[in-house]
Amino acid sequence: MTWLLGIWISWLLMLVGSAQKQFDVVPASQMLNVVPSQNFNQRSGLKTECLGSFFKLTVDKSLAFGSRLEFDAINGSQIEALTPRFADKCGFSVASDPWGNTNVYASLLNCFAGNEDDAVFDIDMRVRVLGVKGEQDVFEVEKTCNYDKWAPREILCNRNYMEVSVNRLPGDITAMQRPPKLARMFDDQWTDTVSEAITSKYNIWRIMFYTPQQKAMLLVDALNSGYVITTTKSRLVLRSGYDMPETYVENVNGVPMKIIRVTTYFKKQWSVTMLDTVAACPTGGLVYTDEMITWNFPRLNPLMDSTETKILGVFMGIDGKQIDSAYMAARGYSLTIEDAQIVMKLPMGGPDGYYKSHAVNNQYHIRYNIEPMLELLWSEGGTDTTRYKVLFPIKTPLMPRLPQLVDNTDSQLKVFDVLLGSFLYDVEFVNITFSTGVLTVAEATARGVIIQEHRLQNGSKTIRLQVPFSDLFVIKSQVDLIMTVYTLPLIFGFMILPENTPFSYSASVKVTLHDVVLPTISGKCDKEKFYVQILFGSGGKGFTVLLGKHDLTPERKAEYEVKENGTHMSLAVPFLASDVAFELMYPSSLKARLDVLVQEPVNKWNLGDFSLSCNFPMTMTECFNNGSMSALAVKVESVTQLSPRQLTLRDPSCKPKFSNDRFAYFTFNANSCGTSRTFYDGVMMYRNEITLSDAPVYQQPKKGVPITLPDAEYRVTVSCFYTLNDTQTIAFFTKPRESEPFPETGFGVLDVILRLALDGSYNEFYLEENYPVVQYLRSPLFFEVALLQSTDPQIELVLENCWATLRDERNSTPRWDLIVDGCVNLADRYETVLHPVASDRVQFPTHVKRFEMQMFAFVQQNVILKDQIYVHCDAVLCDINQIDGICKRLCPSSVPLKTSKVRRDIASDRLQRMQLSSGKIMLSSS
Ligand SMILES: *[C@@H]1O[C@H](CO)[C@@H](O)[C@H](O)[C@H]1NC(C)=O
Ligand SMILES: *[C@@H]1O[C@H](CO)[C@@H](O)[C@H](O)[C@H]1NC(C)=O
Ligand SMILES: *[C@@H]1O[C@H](CO)[C@@H](O)[C@H](O)[C@H]1NC(C)=O
Ligand SMILES: *[C@@H]1O[C@H](CO)[C@@H](O)[C@H](O)[C@H]1NC(C)=O
Ligand SMILES: *[C@@H]1O[C@H](CO)[C@@H](O)[C@H](O)[C@H]1NC(C)=O
Ligand SMILES: *[C@@H]1O[C@H](CO)[C@@H](O)[C@H](O)[C@H]1NC(C)=O
Repeated sequence: MTWLLGIWISWLLMLVGSAQKQFDVVPASQMLNVVPSQNFNQRSGLKTECLGSFFKLTVDKSLAFGSRLEFDAINGSQIEALTPRFADKCGFSVASDPWGNTNVYASLLNCFAGNEDDAVFDIDMRVRVLGVKGEQDVFEVEKTCNYDKWAPREILCNRNYMEVSVNRLPGDITAMQRPPKLARMFDDQWTDTVSEAITSKYNIWRIMFYTPQQKAMLLVDALNSGYVITTTKSRLVLRSGYDMPETYVENVNGVPMKIIRVTTYFKKQWSVTMLDTVAACPTGGLVYTDEMITWNFPRLNPLMDSTETKILGVFMGIDGKQIDSAYMAARGYSLTIEDAQIVMKLPMGGPDGYYKSHAVNNQYHIRYNIEPMLELLWSEGGTDTTRYKVLFPIKTPLMPRLPQLVDNTDSQLKVFDVLLGSFLYDVEFVNITFSTGVLTVAEATARGVIIQEHRLQNGSKTIRLQVPFSDLFVIKSQVDLIMTVYTLPLIFGFMILPENTPFSYSASVKVTLHDVVLPTISGKCDKEKFYVQILFGSGGKGFTVLLGKHDLTPERKAEYEVKENGTHMSLAVPFLASDVAFELMYPSSLKARLDVLVQEPVNKWNLGDFSLSCNFPMTMTECFNNGSMSALAVKVESVTQLSPRQLTLRDPSCKPKFSNDRFAYFTFNANSCGTSRTFYDGVMMYRNEITLSDAPVYQQPKKGVPITLPDAEYRVTVSCFYTLNDTQTIAFFTKPRESEPFPETGFGVLDVILRLALDGSYNEFYLEENYPVVQYLRSPLFFEVALLQSTDPQIELVLENCWATLRDERNSTPRWDLIVDGCVNLADRYETVLHPVASDRVQFPTHVKRFEMQMFAFVQQNVILKDQIYVHCDAVLCDINQIDGICKRLCPSSVPLKTSKVRRDIASDRLQRMQLSSGKIMLSSS
């Protein structure tokens, strides 16, 4: 296959003779000179190199650090600042990396170089380092480059300009040697142009651009447009920027190429020389993968003129400098010629290039930059060679690098620990936005947040951030009863240097901990109150308290003496308070319960509940001496429908004396409200019941219909047990479907009195202060034993035994029996006489017993031992209807209470006896 050389045909058409030109010679030193000028700052950091057809000046970042660099080109007489436009035009290019290392590439054929015979080139430049305060350091750089191996055609594609130079050797090039295409063109043009005046000092007569349409221009106009068309001693030089209007783009085997093509007509005297100059520089051909950059350069070029094109050499370079195959291998570069392409491969991220950070729409991106060079040497028709160089800065497309957040939080340590990365060297972490606001990194560090920057082996870095759960920045929320969620919302603020491009990264880290300690509730009771203490859990005071079913309102708080400190809440609830539930009634106590519920206020989660049930002493039934009784009924929890107002005694007309929703209070006596009376061996019991009088009648369920039990029955049995001088009360409280009734006893006094009347009329009695009573021997003593206060006509007081003693102890000896087992002592010489009690004299005759005896003295061997006696009696209570036992003793009939021996009734041992004694009765000595 014929190889057409990639760079355009240049040919020389010599019509007559040759064009020659004298050059301005710029004096140049032969050695590199780094001359600090003006302020004589001696600084290194400047490096110059001659790289074939161009010159490279490197300014190290150390020199430029924090400053702006400007360059001037010097041609001996003139200094020109290297503006972009000037650089494009005159063959300079400037490239900086992010660290501030700057490369200046200058074509040896640049506008300002001194040129000695196209072989020695003097380059003179100034580097100005501009500080922030306007001060400037100026360095002058001089370099002489020797380069005389110019190929007949040299093409340089630099980043900002295209340059082609061709030998302007005179020769016998005739129209016959012209390629047919050109000949045609020439024929068209020639007749029109040949008569025009020569306008160029180089004898350049006129210029023809091909865009690809033909466009004629005078040299001066071309120069004014920004092209450079010039001659050296032996060469014609054409230079153009990429964006000039007379350039055009052609797709060459899939690679876009920018083309400038100019024919220059020289005229001297009668000869016209026509020189065709073409440059074509690639602007694409790149293919990227994550690992590799592939640069395709078209090998076959349809614009190559000759079918004889032969590639003489293919070289690769980096940053304008050729590299050898060993270096290429070390870097993993490859350069191959394939069918249609010359293919250069560069591993992504290699050390000859660099990564740079970018922010696009606040997203972090990176891009790899590298500047390879491709150098080709080819010949056409075995004679004309072309040297072709492309300095080809590659910027990969922006690659998104979403920062990775690694959450290393150890919930045991209770510290959020996150790692964010990775970022390139040029990213600075500047601030961080917490839930409370933004802090600079320095402020956050001062505030105790641990921020560390970790360097990775490849030079990237990661940010480590540690924030304790307890920090203010951490948002705590309780998701359920036992779990807390700790959330740390974060916005990391970054700045890309040196451009100061901001971007940020938002994240939120979260930890759920089973760390909730619930409140602890405890309590105790005394005789009046419940005392409850709540030990706060991890939520502190953040709870509400329900007592019973009600919130603890401020009024209740005052009522219950609520106290709080940092850790505890305490309250004291009286057992009759409305929030207390009554469980069971006992005769003398009430079993009451306080339910405490501690809730989380927002979600109403129960943080704890507690029930305390205690028995509080309370008189439920009172048995008075006069036979009156009172009873209290309370609404117990188990009888939900009960309204105490509806309770009655056995007699439904006996309603509570007082009642409300929780209590009913009854008073009644032995003869009212259906009170029943029962005697047991001298013990007497009154009994009544508190019930729901209008309780709905429970009906037999029909077959197949499930039996619904009636609401709990309410029945409180009220009992009062009376003995002589003992009052026993027993209340039976019936609670259905629960335990057995609980009898409990209480005490009271049923007063019975033994007293001495002044005389047999029993109208007046000796009072306590009258004792000792003094009596004559054998004078009568009238005793009365009486049950006081009781109004019950059904009971009878019976004297079981009465006796006299010498001393006041009842059981002392000597002793003299007066009444024995309910009958008068028959052995008594001075007979004791029982007197009946008439109903007109006292209200309840059965409550009174009277007997008469004669005053006597105890004598031993006819000596009066002591002139005093005491009288004692045992009395019992009897049912008047009782027909046997001591209560209805039949004494010997002939002489009542005298004759028959009476068998002692065993049962009488069990009788409750009232033991009565008189005061001292003394024998009158007068
Ligand atoms: C220096 O360059 C300027 C502008 O290109 C030109 O006018 C001047 O003649 C040149 N001087 C020398 C000594 O080459
Ligand atoms: C640097 O190394 C880290 C971790 O090994 C990796 O994630 C990152 O992509 C590397 N950076 C570059 C620019 O290759
Ligand atoms: C925080 O940093 C970001 C990114 O650099 C920046 O855009 C933002 O203005 C900063 N915020 C403050 C309050 O400084
Ligand atoms: C809070 O009160 C409780 C009980 O009333 C007590 O035990 C505790 O010591 C008190 N704590 C403080 C900090 O006063
Ligand atoms: C019985 O005694 C009680 C208490 O002393 C008293 O309240 C009540 O009125 C008395 N009842 C009668 C019927 O005297
Ligand atoms: C009866 O009452 C008296 C005085 O109140 C008391 O001393 C005595 O012990 C009582 N008797 C009985 C059997 O309880």
